[in-house]
Amino acid sequence: WPFHAPYVKAINDLKKVRGAVILAHNYMTPEIFHCVADIVGDSLQLAREAAKTDAKIIVQGGVHFMAETSKVLAPDKTVLIPDGAAGCSLAASITGADVRLIRKRYPGVPIVAYVNTSAEVKAEVDVCCTSSNAIEVVESFGVDRVICLPDQYLARWVAANSKVKILTWKGSCEVHERFTGAELEAYRAADPGIQIIAHPECPPDVIAAADFTGSTAKMIDFTRALPVGSRVVLVTECSMADNVATEAPGVTFVRPCNLCPHMKRITLPKILDSLLNLTQEVVVDPAVAAAARRSVERMIHLKN
Ligand code: 13P
Ligand code: SF4
Repeated sequence: WPFHAPYVKAINDLKKVRGAVILAHNYMTPEIFHCVADIVGDSLQLAREAAKTDAKIIVQGGVHFMAETSKVLAPDKTVLIPDGAAGCSLAASITGADVRLIRKRYPGVPIVAYVNTSAEVKAEVDVCCTSSNAIEVVESFGVDRVICLPDQYLARWVAANSKVKILTWKGSCEVHERFTGAELEAYRAADPGIQIIAHPECPPDVIAAADFTGSTAKMIDFTRALPVGSRVVLVTECSMADNVATEAPGVTFVRPCNLCPHMKRITLPKILDSLLNLTQEVVVDPAVAAAARRSVERMIHLKN
C-alpha cells in the first residue's frame, strides 16, 4: 500500500482535472478496484455505465473488448485503455468473417455474441449477451435454435439451463478452462461444508461440482449473502476473492484461483500514464461501431 499511495493520489487528482471516469472490472487488482475506480462491476454493469456516463473521458480498467464496448456505446467520448495489449482468448478466437460464414451456413438462425468479442464480431450478430443475461437473451428470440458464440462452455451452460438448442463455436477462456471438476471435488472431500461458486466460462465438470454458477457480479452477491464463518472457493480470476474479501469479512476464501494475464496488464502506473498522455485511445470504425451498437443496445434494453 505505501508504494501504491502516490499513484492513487495522482490518479484521483488528475481524474478530476481531466473530467475522466474509471470503469473497473471485478478482476482488477484491489488497489485499482478499491482506490481509483469510480464504477466497478461485471461486463454488463460496465457496459450500462459506459452508456450513461457524463464524463468526457472513460479510462477502462479491463481488457480491450471492454474498452471497445465503451467506445461503441459512447462514440463521442474519448475511451482510453492503459495497456492496448490487454486482450482475451475468447475475443481472439473469432472474427467477423467467421460470423459471416456461420450466417451463410445457418440462415435464419439468430446469432448471439458474448460481449467478450471484437466490435467487428458484434457488428455481425443479432444481439450480445454477458454471463449475467445469456439465458434470457437466448430465450428472448422465442425460437428453438440459437447460435451462441464464441465460448463453448458458456454455450453449454446456457443449453443446460434452457430448452433452446444451442449451436456454438470452439472458443474458451484461458483462465476458466484450467479449473477441473476433480480439483473441486478434492476441496469438497476435505471440507464438506465448503461453498463452491463458479463462473459459467468454466468447463461442465467444474459447473457440476459447484453450488452456484453466475457472472462475476452474481458470484459476489452470492458470497456477500453467505453467513459468517462460511468457507468459499471462488472458481474464477484471483482478484475476485481479494476484492470481495473486504465486504465479506466473515468469509474465508480458499484458493485455487487462476490469474488472467490480460487483466493483470492494467496497473496503477499505466492508468496514471494513460490519464497524463491520453493514451491509448480506442478507435472503432464508425460504421462498425454503429452496427455493433445495435447488438449491444438490444442486449442492454432487454429486461434482465
Ligand atoms: P463477467 O464479469 O461478465 O462475469 O465476465 C467475466 C470475464 O471473464 C470478463 O473478462
Ligand atoms: Fe478473457 Fe478469460 Fe481473461 Fe476474461 S478472464 S478477459 S474471458 S481470458
